[in-house]
Amino acid sequence: MSYVDDRYFAPEGYDTSNAVICTFKVKTNEDFGKVSKEIAAESSVGTWTMVHTLTDDIFERLAARVLEMQPEQGIVKIAYPYDIFEKGSLPQMLSLVVGNILGMKSTEAIRLIDIDIPASIREPYPGPAFGIEGFKNALKITKNNDRPIIGTIIKPKMGLPPDKHAQVAYEAWYGGIDFVKDDEPQTDQTFCGFEDRISKVLEKADLVKEETGRNVVYAANITAPLPEMEKRAEYVKDQGGNCMMIDVLTTGFAAVQYMRSLDIGLLIHAHRAMHAAMTRHPDHGIHMVAFAKWLRLAGVDSLHAGTVVGKMEGGYHDVKVVYDALRDTTWKQKTALPVASGGLHPGSIYPITDMFGFDVLINAGGGVHGHPDGTIAGAKAMRQAVEAVVQKRDLWEFAQAENHKELLISLEQWGVPKKDTSS
Ligand code: 3PG
Ligand code: 3PG
Ligand code: MG
Repeated sequence: MSYVDDRYFAPEGYDTSNAVICTFKVKTNEDFGKVSKEIAAESSVGTWTMVHTLTDDIFERLAARVLEMQPEQGIVKIAYPYDIFEKGSLPQMLSLVVGNILGMKSTEAIRLIDIDIPASIREPYPGPAFGIEGFKNALKITKNNDRPIIGTIIKPKMGLPPDKHAQVAYEAWYGGIDFVKDDEPQTDQTFCGFEDRISKVLEKADLVKEETGRNVVYAANITAPLPEMEKRAEYVKDQGGNCMMIDVLTTGFAAVQYMRSLDIGLLIHAHRAMHAAMTRHPDHGIHMVAFAKWLRLAGVDSLHAGTVVGKMEGGYHDVKVVYDALRDTTWKQKTALPVASGGLHPGSIYPITDMFGFDVLINAGGGVHGHPDGTIAGAKAMRQAVEAVVQKRDLWEFAQAENHKELLISLEQWGVPKKDTSS
């Protein structure tokens, strides 16, 4: 009997109601059916040869099964039974479904293009503590005054000392930005120590609240080895902060699950730095939609999800499925806020809200601090662009008719990107 015997093909009427179903795109020069069975085998009870220790009972209970094959398209769906998963452990789920199989010699390339996780397997995961509603509540955005959240990343990416960093945050908030975040590699370097930066920025958050009556969010990047990350989160909380930012892929799923389990009362903003190493190649790796589902289960409140029109790659269809996964209301876990970030500016607010609606956080770094008249003007231009889309007005017409010179200058500088849903 071959180690990839036909029992790996799901029998008629195979019950998938509690199974995780992974859809893979496979490139192979070998027989598609054989390779499909190998995928099921390697990512469940099998190995490269038949082993005498694999009993029929173990096979029946725990083997993954090939559910469906479309060899012309290179598509195969594999079902993984409920009992093969440790409940509530993302590291285990990933070691199983995308563990060894992406490196198998029998495939030229193999990509997880979607993962369907049933309610029974989702059950033990906490999901976001706050989610989209909590995020918007923190900013006093309600159904009656609904709009996208607008944010900025302090630029330059690194180099400002804490007082300057805080001053730039203040100017952004003062001009009308809701959300300020550190950049993904800004943590605790000699030129900008963590505690000094956090306390100074949070003082400015209080000041702007006092001056304008508006609530604001500061995503303090706590990314670090785990024990340090926990200390940093506690520091943010003690200083009266409301959000911790984590580079979720460089710190890892165990770290994210642990930080969420502390239930510390801070929003979790997830930056996906490093994702493209796994998500970008169209034939190989892991589609971003899988990361979105895993990270929502882990409990992040917001996640960088792509822009279509910005500086980072990712066409409409690949980005839309990520937004849909974060905002799918059929899960018991709260929805998570998709973040559009990277190469955006006030004009980008039109195509992004046109494609994805108002449940989105739109960030602009260069597009705020690169405004010819500086950060306050850049922030005002972002806010004016939001007002235009809320009123369903053309950005140019709105800027001229309302005499919003900050928006006008920004549109003259960067224009309004065309919405592009073709790819
Ligand atoms: C981010 O971390 O989201 C960015 O650094 C985006 O910066 P940009 O708006 O200048 O591209
Ligand atoms: C950046 O740091 O420039 C951006 O956050 C990258 O954006 P993305 O992670 O949303 O692609
Ligand atoms: Mg960045």
